Amino acid sequence: MKTADPIKIQIREVAPRDGFQSWPVFVPTDRKLEVIKLMIEAGVTEMETTSFVSPRAIPQMRDAAEVMVGVPKGVCVHGPLVPNLKGAQLALESGADKLVVVISVTDAHNLANVRRTVAESISDLTSIFALARERSKPVMGAMAVAFGCPYQGDVADDQIYHLADAYINGGASSVILADTTGMATPTRIVRMLRGFTKRFPEFPCSLHLHNNRGTAMANLYAALEAGATIFDAALGGIGGCPNVPLAAGNLPTEDVVFMLEDMGYDTGIDLMKIIEASKRLEVILGGTLPGQVMKSGPRDPKLAAAVCGTTH
Ligand code: COA
Ligand code: ZN
Repeated sequence: MKTADPIKIQIREVAPRDGFQSWPVFVPTDRKLEVIKLMIEAGVTEMETTSFVSPRAIPQMRDAAEVMVGVPKGVCVHGPLVPNLKGAQLALESGADKLVVVISVTDAHNLANVRRTVAESISDLTSIFALARERSKPVMGAMAVAFGCPYQGDVADDQIYHLADAYINGGASSVILADTTGMATPTRIVRMLRGFTKRFPEFPCSLHLHNNRGTAMANLYAALEAGATIFDAALGGIGGCPNVPLAAGNLPTEDVVFMLEDMGYDTGIDLMKIIEASKRLEVILGGTLPGQVMKSGPRDPKLAAAVCGTTH
């Protein structure tokens, strides 16, 4: 099914932040580093490696500096998530290659998540961008709850554009439309991407898709058809937001790699190796993970039997 010149799709791996932050117990630092290394060996080239947030708010991320210092350098872009200037300072001191700033598009979620209104968080951006520029590091702007807020429901397009304007005018290299709550459907995704592209032509915009309502893979497909080429995914499908009731995981990286590669896209990630990494993650975490391809394996029955012990 491969075409001669496959379209490249950039997968940004978020399990080390989104996944480990929402796992009910603290995952030991050396185990986090082990999984990160396995993913890099499988071909992951960009990662949300950890987050520099208050250890009181998210105790699972209290080892952010140790994780950043321990990861293999030079082969993968490490962009930890930061909620404020202090996080940005700590991340850059620890060797971050880029910063992923997070602000929600609604006041209610931003207050629950980072204890600031949207306007207050936006006013911090000037100093964060200045610091990043000083260190020549790019900044990605994440827009949380872009497809629906667990407290305020529907989100107006203008709320998204307002935040996107702040990021883009401040100097962001790209932005992320995050369906933190899994409220998006393919129609909403396509409508939003078309509107975004019209307003910010050619500006790189990626998607972060949670599966709370079972629509994440359909949303990815719709985005792909609409021309999107950068997606977040999390090994084993782990993930969730502590400020979203009943949050569900992200798109499993190995499921995305399986589907995209079979459709003829180039993710640069080795399917067998990423399945092996997700199976190791399952052992480390000690619970069944949401990923499907890690259970059924690749299409080739021999390879499936080799990696999953299954014959379909
Ligand atoms: N990393 C580590 N510590 C931080 C920090 C950061 N980025 N930002 C603030 N702190 C510390 C301060 O130094 C202060 O410490 P002290 O009490 O020892 O002096 C304390 O946290 C309170 O600082 P303040 O600025 O008043 O923060 P806050 O209590 O209003 O909390 C956040 C704001 C953003 C730090 C906190 O809500 C947070 O970390 N949220 C992250 C939520 C998250 O990760 N959600 C999931 C990902 S989207
Ligand atoms: Zn998320």
